[in-house]
Amino acid sequence: MNVLIIGGGGREHVLAWKMAQSPIVETVFCAPGNPGVARVGQCVDLDINDFNAVAEFAKQNKVGLTAIGPEAPLADGIVDVLEAAGVVTFGPSKAAAQLEASKRFAKDLMQRNDIPTAKYAEFSDPDSAKAYVQSEGVPIVIKADGLAAGKGVTVARTIDEANAAIDAIMIEKAFGDAGALVIIEECMVGEEASILAFTDGKTVLPLATSQDHKPAFNGDEGPNTGGMGAYSPAPLVDMDMMEEIQTRILEPCVKGLANDGISYKGILYAGLMITNEGPKVVEFNCRFGDPEAQVVLPRLQSDIVPIMLACREGVLSKLTLEYDERPCVTVVMASPGYPASYPKGIAIHGLDDAEAAGAMVFHAGTAESGGNIVTNGGRVLNVTALGGTIPEAIANAYRYVGMIHFDGAHFRTDIGKKALAYL
Ligand code: AMP
Ligand code: GLY
Repeated sequence: MNVLIIGGGGREHVLAWKMAQSPIVETVFCAPGNPGVARVGQCVDLDINDFNAVAEFAKQNKVGLTAIGPEAPLADGIVDVLEAAGVVTFGPSKAAAQLEASKRFAKDLMQRNDIPTAKYAEFSDPDSAKAYVQSEGVPIVIKADGLAAGKGVTVARTIDEANAAIDAIMIEKAFGDAGALVIIEECMVGEEASILAFTDGKTVLPLATSQDHKPAFNGDEGPNTGGMGAYSPAPLVDMDMMEEIQTRILEPCVKGLANDGISYKGILYAGLMITNEGPKVVEFNCRFGDPEAQVVLPRLQSDIVPIMLACREGVLSKLTLEYDERPCVTVVMASPGYPASYPKGIAIHGLDDAEAAGAMVFHAGTAESGGNIVTNGGRVLNVTALGGTIPEAIANAYRYVGMIHFDGAHFRTDIGKKALAYL
């Protein structure tokens, strides 16, 4: 069959790479894709916000499975439109995607189903939000309710900082309608881990554990980004803890949604804080993590396409996942200035050498210009490597990073370091 992937970043490149390995796949289409994707599939120029146009393309090109990468089209109901048009699609419905698109929806679900998470309150006016902050004290976490591209969260260390965050969300409307409601949470302390799981609305089949690195600079300093690197497995999550995550977080989430009449199909991503009291949910996302997918999918040995189809058909309980035991590390090479404004169009050198040496380089923000690959986004490349151990995977990834150059390239040099404490 042919498959279609919606999106054009590193997550979509690794998905295209993985789906292209499936013996049942002929052509991988990706809209819009990127120059990395173009090496394993065919990029198509489609307006991915025009869901009817996407459905039309899928039908005309004998696409047997469409997989949705990013959260925005999921939240806007792309799956409902495609399925109604008879296009087989991997991803949650609009109703199910509220789990990521509305923090209020997620917090309410967790509370009703006894899923461990930070204590919270919600406010639709800034004065009562500020009064609550005053009574709770700091540190405290301020969040816009809706989608804010990962930028709607402030971990406030002072009352002034908390009030400024409330003003930014509710008065300055920095995130537009996403800030009509503010969620204020207890600040949890611990280390974070990402758990991605396939689900068909009944069975939950977790992928390997991973850990993202959100802050821009070494030692978790600086502003939050989309993610500066990741590793898998995350050794802080042992087998007992994984069992607890499965039975106390993932399964109750899917079951709770089902009890509310919502069948959640696709990837369920739980962002967790591993606290002294055990794992607690920071947030749920409704799609593969980026860059977590770039370390989890290279370790997945099973054919991903039948798994995706089983999620949609509700027969996931018949499947198991096979893994490569080797750890995987990805280092994000970002544009100078990211996550603030950055230039584009800088020539990238050394990609062929790094790949010849064994690197898996997933393109996140690149373009082709005059036969050269140039920078075209904040996060530019995900330089990815497997290794016999986590230290080996780290060393391999950085060896490959050292072979790739573009002017002003910015990357963290401590990706994976936190894992070493557990070895
Ligand atoms: P989110 O967009 O909800 O993933 O939040 C972004 C980041 O803010 C998370 O990865 C955490 O590092 C931090 N964060 C969010 N909520 C909390 C919380 N309740 N306690 C501590 N840190 C949090
Ligand atoms: N890496 C964080 C995310 O995908 O939301």
